[in-house]
Amino acid sequence: MMNQLYHGAHQDHRVATMDFQLNDPSLLKYQGFIDGRWLDAADTQTFAVSNPANGQHLGDVANMGAAQTGIAIEAAQAAQTAWQAESAQARSAILERWHQLVIDNQADLARIMTIEQGKPLCESMGEIAYGAAFIKWFSEEGKRVYGSTLPAAQSDRRAIAIKQPVGVVAAITPWNFPHAMITRKVAPALAVGCTVVLKPAAETPFSALALAELARRAGVPAGVFNVVPGIDAAAIGGELTRNPRVRKLTFTGSTPVGKLLMQQCAATVKRTSMELGGNAPLIIFDDADLNMAMAGVLLSKFRNSGQTCICSNRIIVQDGIYDEFVTRLAAAVAEFRFGDGLDAASTHGPLISAQAAAGIHAKVEDAVARGANVVSGGRISDLGSHFYEPTILTNVDHTMAVFREEIFGPVAPIFKFSTEEQAIAMANDTEFGLAAYFYSESIARSWRVAEALEYGMVGVNETAISSEVIPFGGIKESGQGREGSKFGLDDYLEIKYICMGGLNR
Ligand code: SIN
Repeated sequence: MMNQLYHGAHQDHRVATMDFQLNDPSLLKYQGFIDGRWLDAADTQTFAVSNPANGQHLGDVANMGAAQTGIAIEAAQAAQTAWQAESAQARSAILERWHQLVIDNQADLARIMTIEQGKPLCESMGEIAYGAAFIKWFSEEGKRVYGSTLPAAQSDRRAIAIKQPVGVVAAITPWNFPHAMITRKVAPALAVGCTVVLKPAAETPFSALALAELARRAGVPAGVFNVVPGIDAAAIGGELTRNPRVRKLTFTGSTPVGKLLMQQCAATVKRTSMELGGNAPLIIFDDADLNMAMAGVLLSKFRNSGQTCICSNRIIVQDGIYDEFVTRLAAAVAEFRFGDGLDAASTHGPLISAQAAAGIHAKVEDAVARGANVVSGGRISDLGSHFYEPTILTNVDHTMAVFREEIFGPVAPIFKFSTEEQAIAMANDTEFGLAAYFYSESIARSWRVAEALEYGMVGVNETAISSEVIPFGGIKESGQGREGSKFGLDDYLEIKYICMGGLNR
């Protein structure tokens, strides 16, 4: 069994129909990466990956399952002791090299991302820089894992608390940020001495595999970082959550899947970090700087064609400026050029799938059936089944799916309010609690509203809130744990209390 699962690299069944035109074509990998080796699936099965902009077949990737996930976990556990025993400086030096290689290969990594995920090339370039920043940040933060000396309760004792890596980490990452959501998890884990088994999204495996190749070139030892691609998420996720060798699961994805993974992890009481769905309100008060608010809406609503967990989902505008705002937003959205992300003229790319576009359309239809007005868009685009027209809806209310559910597409429902209390109540009327935004020129209101919003992250007069230095994460059903910042290491560390007794002899 073991030999069969470890069988070597025969590559003839792998088909690449697409020329990615990379400076370094060896960054394109079609196999899984386990224990420092590139491997086919044990049964040689593959899955096809295609370009969401045009349906073009990009290549076939090893379709690994539960058994090879188990092998990857074994490899990670075998590598754990030595990796943990390295000095923080030694791990930091390897992460520094990994960071530099990512930066050196930014153009290729961005191209791979655009071709498999769809976002415009400039957004992909930005995501690679964003993702690399996590590697750099945690290469530095990993050297600052401080414990505490504690005043002991008895005079013959001394008490200290040290921090140690949790052990083998399983990471499951999404297709909407195929690069940065990996580095945001893997860099802190590696920095503190954990080893990792990653299952990337089946839609975007090439970005993950290229990162693994660069980690290998940077000197990350065999078994420390493993990537298991596959389409059977239940099988791979089942093994990652069932296997007692895995001590922690970190997941970015939908709330229903997060809840299921948490249930599965309960059997072996694994630590979990969950970055789940959002339903971000963006409130614009009458006293806002409307130019600034408009720029914030255009970025936060339509970035990645609306496919981010922190995209503003519900635009909530005060009655005094409502009509002017809608008119200006419609004019701005009319300037968008949706298209292939490789085309420099495209301001926005496709959605990840035709199914995603159909799901977004169902929410728009629900709103219209309940009385919403379509100011612009409102249908699947003539560009193809993966594209949805940028859409503005007015006359919307809390009974509609566009109020209650994460839209994950370029649809902006504009809700109206009169008082600050109403705006806060509307914003908090959801089980989600990831990000919220508001625009106001009043300092007193800014503090009041920021403190009243039940969210893990609040942007005041700003929607571009993400970076490596901030604690990214949600409350309520948007998850638990924080990624990035000085807090981002804690999710990969255990606190151990050591008591030394008998010191008065
Ligand atoms: C996400 O959609 O989960 C990530 C967005 C970000 O990091 O800014």
